[in-house]
Amino acid sequence: MCGIIGYTGPLQAKDVLLNGLSQLEYRGYDSAGIAFFESGQNVRVVKTTGKVARLKELCSSITEEIHCGIGHTRWATHGGVTVENAHPHQAGRVTLIHNGIIENYHQLTADFHLEGTLISQTDSEVAARVLDQIYDHDPISSIRRLVPLLEGSYGFCILFSDHPGEIYAVRNVSPLVAAYTHSGSLIASDLTALIPYTRKYAVVPENQIVKLTPYRMEFYQMDGTPASPEILEVNWDTDAAMKNGYPHFMLKEIHEQPEALKKTILPRLTKGLPDFGDDGIPDSLFQTCSQIRIVACGTAMHAGMVARAVMEPLLKIPVLVSVASEFRYEDPLVNDQTLTIVISQSGETIDTLAALRLAKELGSKVLSVVNVKGSTIARESDYVLYTHAGPEIAVASTKAYSVQLAALYMITCRMACVRGKMTDQEAASFMEDLLDVIPAMEEMLDQAETIKTIVRPLIDKPDAFFIGRNLDYAFSLEGALKLKEISYIHADAYAAGELKHGTIALIADQVPVIALATQDRIFSKMISNVREVKARGAYVILITKKEADVDPELADVRIRIPDLHDRFTVFPIAVVLQLIAYYASLLKGLDVDQPRNLAKSVTVE
Ligand code: M6R
Repeated sequence: MCGIIGYTGPLQAKDVLLNGLSQLEYRGYDSAGIAFFESGQNVRVVKTTGKVARLKELCSSITEEIHCGIGHTRWATHGGVTVENAHPHQAGRVTLIHNGIIENYHQLTADFHLEGTLISQTDSEVAARVLDQIYDHDPISSIRRLVPLLEGSYGFCILFSDHPGEIYAVRNVSPLVAAYTHSGSLIASDLTALIPYTRKYAVVPENQIVKLTPYRMEFYQMDGTPASPEILEVNWDTDAAMKNGYPHFMLKEIHEQPEALKKTILPRLTKGLPDFGDDGIPDSLFQTCSQIRIVACGTAMHAGMVARAVMEPLLKIPVLVSVASEFRYEDPLVNDQTLTIVISQSGETIDTLAALRLAKELGSKVLSVVNVKGSTIARESDYVLYTHAGPEIAVASTKAYSVQLAALYMITCRMACVRGKMTDQEAASFMEDLLDVIPAMEEMLDQAETIKTIVRPLIDKPDAFFIGRNLDYAFSLEGALKLKEISYIHADAYAAGELKHGTIALIADQVPVIALATQDRIFSKMISNVREVKARGAYVILITKKEADVDPELADVRIRIPDLHDRFTVFPIAVVLQLIAYYASLLKGLDVDQPRNLAKSVTVE
């Protein structure tokens, strides 16, 4: 989604803004622009459709010293991809950039008689024009009067032409982080744009106004009284957000998984058992609940699907998984006996946040599994179990998925102990099995080149099917998502037993079927399903454990994963499925890290 950067200080602001926008490219965007104080009270805007590289070209003739400005990458919501719709938007004395959606922009257009004055089709320009109309030369008081007029989500950074050198910001839902450094003040939609300058930052609280000058950052409550931000420290270094010799962030992040798992699991082991004491998560949270609701989007939701299949049989209580964007409309049966587990890499996904808020309203305690420290979901949850994947830059989620799984498996194990469903000995053995997945993942990473060869025949195919039963079905969902989002091959996952109820009609000569058969207790049933697709001409890539005995005629290609306990095969399988998607995208010559139409952090509904 849209990326935001603002800077005021002694450095060349043009460079800070353009470099910041490059750091934010991974969020996904289709146009980019900057605005800056040129001389005195003159604010100049340069914007374009397409990549930040194009914006850099347009800005190359700017040679004068610039010390204050804002920059934006836009992911189109209201209005097409045009220069007019790109940000910043200017209206009289106001120049602003916006992340989010102003839902009542129609009403505002009517109330403030803006028909005929708008240059773009965006809700953001409406906000700029309203602010200009109510502007009284006092930015803070004007923003205070703007906020109650707005419905929707927003992170705004604003320049007022009569306040050179100053940047103002306010947000509702959409994230903003700010920092004061010896080289000036910065604000951004996420930390990756700030870390080249500082490790210390503040999350801008919702409905507070921030004023940045070269010498300080000031926070104000909506009643105008000053506020003190909490200063946080980044727990990863700049290197973590670089490619470090890999051709793509995605490949680097796939390879980082064993390390990320160690960082997530090992500090939480006491005598071989999961211990959340340092996370402040009490056992009482796990003791009394009578059901678990898991809520998340996309890959995080798929991690939830796997967790459900592991949790329910072990804990013997109902575990339901909901897509966060649907949760609110399901009238969910959630109450104070429910434990809601929210999963999010970014901690900013708006649908997941809305689901969290509803679950709390209904009386549930919320435990979130989040990667980004200090994110909104983390702050609003009752308890947080942070995953330690470090920054995930590629749009396609990889290492975040496996650490989410590790965290969820640890929660399951702790909960099973607390509820008397596992002895300490059984729990210790469960955790040993979990640690064994680390070398198993490394073994699959070593097979990357072989997987690349296997993928070649897939890249000209329009469709691919992923099939599996029980846990293998849950893994298939993620395999299909990964493949479609970065290779644009239409891919779907099916419970293998369900194929005969319709989908098998699509299986014809050489249609790729990626079949997962790693669950011992249903192995023979799964193999029967593979026979059914093979008999109809499918090109079968079969993934099994090493020990599995399979008729060589059954599969065109066989991938063998280490012989782990059924529950844990997801980890090496995740590596295989991620590599299949990666190489499909690479061999098709696509933009692996920034697939079309997608954004890393989905901050609009
Ligand atoms: O940041 P979140 O984990 O809340 O994001 C949820 C989804 O948008 C995300 O998992 C998405 O599906 C992946 N980027 C796909 O690879």
